[in-house]
Amino acid sequence: MNVGMPRDVVWHGRTVYTGVWKEPVEGPVMLRRLNLDGDGQGDLGGHGGEQRAVLVYQLDSYRHWQRELGRDDLTHGNFGENFTVDGLPDDEVCIGDRYRVGEAVVEVTQPRVTCYRVGLRMGEPRLPALLVAHHRPGFYLRVLTEGLVQAGDEFVKLSTGPEAMTVAEIDALLYLPGHPRDGAARALRIPALSPGWQESMRALLAQEEGREGNAGLVTAAAPPAWTGFRPLTVIGYEEDTRDVFSLLLAAADGAPLPAALPGQFLTLRLPTPDGTLVRSYSLSGQPGDPAYRISVKQEPHGAAGAYLRANMRPGVTVEAAAPRGTFTLETGDSPVLLLSAGIGVTPVLAMLHALAAVRSERAVWWVHGARDGAEHAFAAEARELLGRLPHGRAWICYSRPGPDDVAGRDFAGAGRITADVLRGLRLPPDTAAYLCGPAEFMTQIAAALGDLGITAVHSELFGAQPGLTPGIAAAPARAPHPPAGDPGPGPAVSFVRSGLTVPWDPAYGSLLELAEACDVPVRWSCRTGVCHTCESGLLSGEVDYLPDPVDAPADGSVLICCARPRTELTLDV
Ligand SMILES: Cc1cc2nc3c(=O)[nH]c(=O)nc-3n(C[C@H](O)[C@H](O)[C@H](O)COP(=O)(O)OP(=O)(O)OC[C@H]3O[C@@H](n4cnc5c(N)ncnc54)[C@H](O)[C@@H]3O)c2cc1C
Ligand code: FES
Repeated sequence: MNVGMPRDVVWHGRTVYTGVWKEPVEGPVMLRRLNLDGDGQGDLGGHGGEQRAVLVYQLDSYRHWQRELGRDDLTHGNFGENFTVDGLPDDEVCIGDRYRVGEAVVEVTQPRVTCYRVGLRMGEPRLPALLVAHHRPGFYLRVLTEGLVQAGDEFVKLSTGPEAMTVAEIDALLYLPGHPRDGAARALRIPALSPGWQESMRALLAQEEGREGNAGLVTAAAPPAWTGFRPLTVIGYEEDTRDVFSLLLAAADGAPLPAALPGQFLTLRLPTPDGTLVRSYSLSGQPGDPAYRISVKQEPHGAAGAYLRANMRPGVTVEAAAPRGTFTLETGDSPVLLLSAGIGVTPVLAMLHALAAVRSERAVWWVHGARDGAEHAFAAEARELLGRLPHGRAWICYSRPGPDDVAGRDFAGAGRITADVLRGLRLPPDTAAYLCGPAEFMTQIAAALGDLGITAVHSELFGAQPGLTPGIAAAPARAPHPPAGDPGPGPAVSFVRSGLTVPWDPAYGSLLELAEACDVPVRWSCRTGVCHTCESGLLSGEVDYLPDPVDAPADGSVLICCARPRTELTLDV
C-alpha cells in the first residue's frame, strides 16, 4: 500500500503540483470514500474524486516494464498506484467487479487516466502511451464501504461486473484504433463505469461511420472539404454597418462550393504589403448556398480588417482553407438559444439561416447584444429569418441606445445581456445554447445558463482557446512571441489564433514544445500521442510523427504533442 500527498516538482523549468509520488506504508490504513488516509491528488480535474479514489497496479506489470524498459530500479508506488497487487491483471479484472479487501468493499470504475505525470515520475515520457499500447493501464476503485486495509490483505471477489468487460478491453476500446460500436454499447450497460467514461462511450457510439478521429476523446471535426488553401473569387462586397462588411466568395470556375456546417469558419491567407496574415472568419450566410459569405468587423488598427476592406472587390481572388470547426448546430428537437454579442453574431446567424431554411418547428430564441442601432449588424436579416420560424422569438439588447433607436421596435432592453435577461426568457433546461462573443462575456453567460440548469452550452471564441496545462502552477500570461534565441532553420509554422508565424527549430521535440516556447496557449495532457487533448486543426502542410499517435487524429487535424513539421504549417492554434 502506497500513499503520498501532492507536492511541487520542478519539471522543464516549470512547477508541477502532483501527488504521483507514493511511498509504501506499513500497518493498517483507513480507506475512505475519497482517499486512503495520508494520500492525496494534486489535480482533481484529472485524478482523484469518488470514481478514482484508489489506483491499482500489478506486480506482473512491474516485471513486464522491468524487461521492456531495461529497468532494475522499480519500487512499489512508482506507477503512482495506491495498491501494488499480486494478481488482478487488467485482462481479467472487469469494470463493476466488487471486492472485499481488509474491512473495505471496493468496486472497479475505470482504467487509469493517460497523463504525463506517470512518465514524469518514471523519467520515461512515452509511458502514458506505452501503458495503453501494451494493454497494462491499471485501474481505479470506488470505495463502497470504508474500512481499514493493510499490505498483505487478500482481495476477495464478491461479484463480477455486468457484461464482464475487462479493464484492458475497455481501455483499448477508447484509446486504440477501431472503437467497435458493440463494445461501446456493452460498456454503457455497466452502471459502475465512471460518468466520464460513459460520456466517452456515448460519443463513440454517436460517431459517424467511417469518420476519422476519436470522438470518445475530443469532438471529432468533419473532414475538411479540401486540403490546404485554394483560391476563391470575391463576387460580392457589401457594407453592413459602419464597421462591418461582408464578402461573398465563390469558386473561380463558378461551380458550387462544398456545403459547410452552420457555425463553421473559413480561414483566409492574405498577402498584405507588411507580410502574410492568416485570419479566420465564421461563415454568416445560408449553409449550402453555392457561394460563401463572411462578415468582417474592421477593428481600429486591425491589420486584416483594413486590408480586406481596402482590397476585396468583385473579381479579386483570395486564398482560403476549407470550412472547419466543431461549433455547429446539432440536429434534434430541443429548444435552441442563439446568443451573441457584436460581431459574434456571424456563426449563430448561419445557424438561424439553417433553421429558417427548413422552417424548423423548434423553439428558437435569438438573443443579441449590440451597442446601438448603428452598430446592430444584420438586424433586418435576422428579423426576416425569425419571421419564417413558427416558434422563433428575439430579445435584442442595446448597451447605449442612440437617439433614433426605439425601444420595443429596434431593441427590447437597454443594457447588456445579463443573467436577469436570461432568467426572464424562461428557457427550458433542455435548451441547446450556442454562444459567440467576447471571452469574458461568454464565461458570464455560460455560468448564468448553468444556474438555470442548462447544460448543453456550446461556444465559439474569436481568438486563442484558453490553455489546458494540467497540474502546472499558474504563471503570468504573456502575449505570444517568437522563441528566445536565433530563429530556427526549419519551415515556417503559423499559429493562426495567436497571430504568430515562426520558423521551426529541430531543437524542439514537437510542435507543442515550440508553441510553449512562444507562450502560445496550448492544451495537452499525455504529451505522447494517446489522449488527443492537443488535437488541433491542421489548415495546411504536412507533419511527421515521433512517436506515432496511438490512434490517428481526425482528418485535417494534428496531435501537436508528437508532431514536427515536414513542410510549412498553418495551425488553428
Ligand atoms: C474561429 C474564428 C472565427 C472568427 N470569425 C470572425 C468573424 O466572423 N468576423 C470577424 O470580424 N472576425 C472573426 N474572427 C476574428 C478574426 O479572425 C480576427 O482575429 C479579427 O478580425 C482581427 O483581425 P485583424 O487582423 O483585423 O486585427 P489584428 O491586427 O490582428 O489586431 C487584433 C486586435 O488588436 C488591436 N490592435 C492592433 N494593432 C493595434 C495597435 N497598434 N494599437 C492598439 N490596438 C491594436 C486591433 O484593434 C484588434 O482589436 C474569428 C476568429 C476565429 C478564431
Ligand atoms: S497531449 Fe495527449 S495526444 Fe497530445
